[in-house]
Amino acid sequence: MRLKDKVAIVTGAGRGLGKGIAMELAKEGAKVVIADVNLADDTVKEIEAEGGTAACVKVNVAEQEDVQNMVKFAMDTYGRLDIMVNNAGINRDGMLHKMPKENWDSVIAIDLTGVFYGTQEALKIMREQESGRIINISSGSWLGNIGQANYAAAKAGVVGLTKTAARESAKKGITCNVICPGFIETDMTLKLKEVKDGAAWDSMMQRIPMGYAGKPSDVGKMVAFLASDDAAYITSEVINVGGGMIV
Ligand code: NAI
Repeated sequence: MRLKDKVAIVTGAGRGLGKGIAMELAKEGAKVVIADVNLADDTVKEIEAEGGTAACVKVNVAEQEDVQNMVKFAMDTYGRLDIMVNNAGINRDGMLHKMPKENWDSVIAIDLTGVFYGTQEALKIMREQESGRIINISSGSWLGNIGQANYAAAKAGVVGLTKTAARESAKKGITCNVICPGFIETDMTLKLKEVKDGAAWDSMMQRIPMGYAGKPSDVGKMVAFLASDDAAYITSEVINVGGGMIV
């Protein structure tokens, strides 16, 4: 129970990685606000069924006022904010020379500007508290990936944003780190099983040295570590959780 009495917000926690992260934080004793564009009471029920504490709030992370209300909800419900996990994200893949502007805009708005809003609102509280953990979810694609110009640009932006936040907040007892998941089995990636009768999925497995997709809990356990006192001296880092896939 490394996170007993801590309060966390996880965005995009209705399913997939965010849900896995929320479950791991709750297992360690944190009270977790499950924030998602779709109201996610299923995640809350699962956490409560395992003896944890959680509450859910609806948020579109691309809307600043929504994000402000989400943080206010956490403060009104649990009285403090110790851990902010900016996880919500989408992809709209396609080759750059054919990419519609709206696919650029929507990915930047959710995957980058949404992380800016979440980080900014959390910092306001954590700077006052003089403690806190910000953990932003990027992707191995931040290094560049065919068909993902919008996503790679947003995820690279998350790295720069987080490293700057880390430097600005270090003396206030706040750590800010980035996790880059490799290929984790969620609704976002399972779409690949439908491409070329599963051949696209199989070829992805060959790109992972460990030979299989990760689970949301694999990322959740890294988030729980970074959120804990054990990670007090770790800030401004980019940590891959990818079975050896990201080099
Ligand atoms: P997912 O599509 O399975 O789940 C995303 C969740 O975010 C959903 O519950 C959705 O309702 C929510 N969401 C979407 N837009 C939102 C918005 N505007 N405001 C609030 N919530 C919103 O995706 P997955 O795979 O769980 O991905 C989570 C994060 O991990 C994303 O940032 C993604 O880019 C990143 N990631 C995922 C990888 C993977 O292999 N699955 C690999 C690398 C990064």
